[in-house]
Amino acid sequence: MIFDKNNCCDFAGSYDLSRLPLIKKLEQAALDSDYGGPSWTTRKQVDAIIESLALHSGSRLLDIGSGAGWPGLLLAKLSQCDVTLLDIPLNALQQAVERAGEDAMTGQVDIVSGSGTSLPFLDRSFDRISHSDVLCCLAEKMELLQESRRVARDDARMHFSVILPATDLSQSEYDEVLESGPPFVGVDGSYADLLRGSGWQVTEYQDVTADYRDSLQRLVDGIQSNESELIQLLGAADLASKRQHREDQIGLIERGLMRRETFAATAI
Ligand SMILES: C[S@@+](CC[C@H](N)C(=O)[O-])C[C@H]1O[C@@H](n2cnc3c(N)ncnc32)[C@H](O)[C@@H]1O
Repeated sequence: MIFDKNNCCDFAGSYDLSRLPLIKKLEQAALDSDYGGPSWTTRKQVDAIIESLALHSGSRLLDIGSGAGWPGLLLAKLSQCDVTLLDIPLNALQQAVERAGEDAMTGQVDIVSGSGTSLPFLDRSFDRISHSDVLCCLAEKMELLQESRRVARDDARMHFSVILPATDLSQSEYDEVLESGPPFVGVDGSYADLLRGSGWQVTEYQDVTADYRDSLQRLVDGIQSNESELIQLLGAADLASKRQHREDQIGLIERGLMRRETFAATAI
């Protein structure tokens, strides 16, 4: 999140950066979190996810695209549920292993390397599923939702956030969002339709674009305040390009072209 490469999907590279204390400081300012997560889920939104999923001790939660454990580990810590974290980059999962150990949570946590589009779990294994800004980071959105449904029990709940283009954009506006948004921000049709088509019924929808914009602005402010150390870490040209990337995203949001939304759904 804080520092991805512009639209190049180098998640492993961004997880290496996100371990560094200076980058964690920026993450803390932007999201009130220090897990090294690349999504835009804030600490406050974690409480809303717990409520929406009605997480409790005994729930079996699967967090897809869990990265370094944000927000899956905190969801489990606060609600006492069991959590399975799944992602692809091993360096992210290693950070999650370390964090689970530091927080004395190892008995509650399973960590698995695999793809959300071909989940290595039996049918009906979980009663809660979450993913934070993952659908905008992969092309196979329907496959991930169908796989989520396959591993979900019949009364399961799912909660996710996603960054997406606003509706009714001109082609050139849409192209701008594709250019500066997350790597797979484009979506054919609506997420509500994708959910219906994969066996989920939407129960709750929230527009969290304003929080996303505020987090981006706090990040840009943090870059400004820590500029000289960041130049030493990244070099002036790389820092300037990363900062510009975030400013472009703020611009897209302020022009009403890009949004961040959350959906809660139940299995049907
Ligand atoms: C924006 S990051 C979010 C990470 C974490 N959930 C967070 O909140 O910070 C998107 C994540 O989706 C993961 N991802 C992308 N494609 C995936 C796939 N096919 N299966 C599982 N995870 C995937 C990436 O590796 C990355 O960690």
